[in-house]
Amino acid sequence: MSGSSAESWVVTTPRKRFDLNAKAEETAARLNLRFVVRGDNSVDKLLDSMNAKGLYVETDGAPLIQTSEGAFRFHENTSGQRTKNPGATDALLRALEPRPSDNVLDATLGIACDALVIATALTGGGKLVGLESCPILADMTRRGIESCDIKAANIREASRRINVVSADHSEYMRRANDGEFDLVYFDPMFPETVAGSAAMRRMRAVADERPLSAESISQAIRIAARRVVVKGRRGYFNDIRFSKIIESGRSIYYGVIEV
Ligand SMILES: C[S@@+](CC[C@H](N)C(=O)[O-])C[C@H]1O[C@@H](n2cnc3c(N)ncnc32)[C@H](O)[C@@H]1O
Repeated sequence: MSGSSAESWVVTTPRKRFDLNAKAEETAARLNLRFVVRGDNSVDKLLDSMNAKGLYVETDGAPLIQTSEGAFRFHENTSGQRTKNPGATDALLRALEPRPSDNVLDATLGIACDALVIATALTGGGKLVGLESCPILADMTRRGIESCDIKAANIREASRRINVVSADHSEYMRRANDGEFDLVYFDPMFPETVAGSAAMRRMRAVADERPLSAESISQAIRIAARRVVVKGRRGYFNDIRFSKIIESGRSIYYGVIEV
């Protein structure tokens, strides 16, 4: 995780929710993190007294991440809007061109907003494996997907095609077979810009910010049967030879490598 070890995170509950202690203790044991009784402590007080970078908070539903940047939780986000109009295909789908029975690897899952968009196209038995190297984020996204909180029907259906795996993509891909996936997708973190959104700052507090390595791109090309797509920002990845570029807004693009 960015700039901190997993040990500097603690698992707790909302204020005075002693009834959730057992659930939080279980989560702490599963993720090998410390559990702390919340009592009536504020987030800041707990972060300070535990010398913690963030709190992973068990609730009645899906858990959430709480840092000094605010709360951050799984949310279907814009995936519903991005897939609502079949006539206006989302730029990511135009870049990947997924087929209904495809086996897709999302190597940088995050909170699965892109994965949900991709999975809407996997209507013929296709599956998506989503890799997330931050164990807390992987846990939160998996449980968010499994909860019944997703409102858009097509996204709820798509969520059942996603398998969240808590793993580093370099290690995972080294063990994968040649051509095991039809498509591989990367959406790596980029260095912070002055105009970073509040949501992005909250994600940064927990996400793995290591840059995408050349070795990972090579491994992806080896394990993809059809395409590797990298979400890029203008000025980045100039050294990758993309077969084509799909623009998405002024500074974002999807670079496509046909294999
Ligand atoms: C920009 S976010 C991806 C957002 C995602 N596309 C979404 O729609 O929610 C990048 C994510 O990749 C994860 N990540 C970075 N390096 C990784 C690696 N080597 N293996 C697996 N996940 C990684 C980060 O922790 C972060 O959650």
